[in-house]
Amino acid sequence: MALAAAGAALVPNVASTVIVSKGLTVGYNLHRERKRLTALKNIDLSVRRGEFVVLVGPSGCGKTTFINAIAGLVEPWEGTIEVNGRPVSGPGPDRAMVFQDYALMPWRTVESNVRMPFELQKLGLSQEEMDERVRRYIELVDLKGFEKSYPYELSGGMKQRVGIARALVGEPDILLADEPFAAIDAMTREAMQGELERFVAKAGQTVVFITHSIDEAVTLADRVVVISYRPGRVKEIVPVNLPRPRFDYDVKTLPEYGVLRDHIWRLVKDEAFQAARGEKR
Ligand SMILES: Nc1ncnc2c1ncn2[C@@H]1O[C@H](COP(=O)(O)OP(=O)(O)OP(=O)(O)O)[C@@H](O)[C@H]1O
Ligand SMILES: [Mg+2]
Repeated sequence: MALAAAGAALVPNVASTVIVSKGLTVGYNLHRERKRLTALKNIDLSVRRGEFVVLVGPSGCGKTTFINAIAGLVEPWEGTIEVNGRPVSGPGPDRAMVFQDYALMPWRTVESNVRMPFELQKLGLSQEEMDERVRRYIELVDLKGFEKSYPYELSGGMKQRVGIARALVGEPDILLADEPFAAIDAMTREAMQGELERFVAKAGQTVVFITHSIDEAVTLADRVVVISYRPGRVKEIVPVNLPRPRFDYDVKTLPEYGVLRDHIWRLVKDEAFQAARGEKR
């Protein structure tokens, strides 16, 4: 039984693939400059159900654009992006997003921001179930006591945690997280990484997560996808076979951790230098 399970994990199973990007090219029309900017070029990537995929790469390489394409917020110029075997045609309750810039509603309290997915999507929950979930996820992100606060009364890290609670409250199949811990202090950040790992393992969620922190990438990922400087392409996919839960195993002390970290750092550094040398489109 254990062997069969281990074997299954090694052989990619098409039925267990949840997100498939094939030859995906996405860009933007820059009306003011009368130009077209290619943000991502020819991205081939399949994400398995329950997998934790982390995207890293220099600023402006198209990471946010890629998760926006999965979320249905931008359309492919070329190629396809499919979720559960169907081309993405817009946002849906199966995918939730934690936005890089929080995207909270300033006139709503913490509680009311977290409750938003229930107003936008009919999930068939009773009022009690919704109230219970809102309470549970506010507690999970450590914001108990701030339910009635408005975003302007919160720090950057607290706002980010509201965004995380709002993404999780609908218990989506797929979590798209755009640098969700960037504004959170180092100690809380590590604790939240541990919480997220535990949480998604329990819920069986598929996660596509963006970070600029190589440590965060190695700590969380099943695979790290390194994206090259603009137009973003897949430069390398690095499998991370460290034991889970990573927090409990204290993986940072393992020699493999250092090897992976160095390898990914080298890949990203090359691209970041290229980005710093010229912002050509
Ligand atoms: N709405 C838009 N209109 C025009 N250009 C855009 C738009 N959104 C992104 N871009 C451009 O597309 C490219 C990729 O942007 P994207 O936000 O995907 O990068 P990123 O990898 O997420 O960067 P960062 O790490 O800084 O968040 C950039 O050159 C950016 O200027
Ligand atoms: Mg971004």
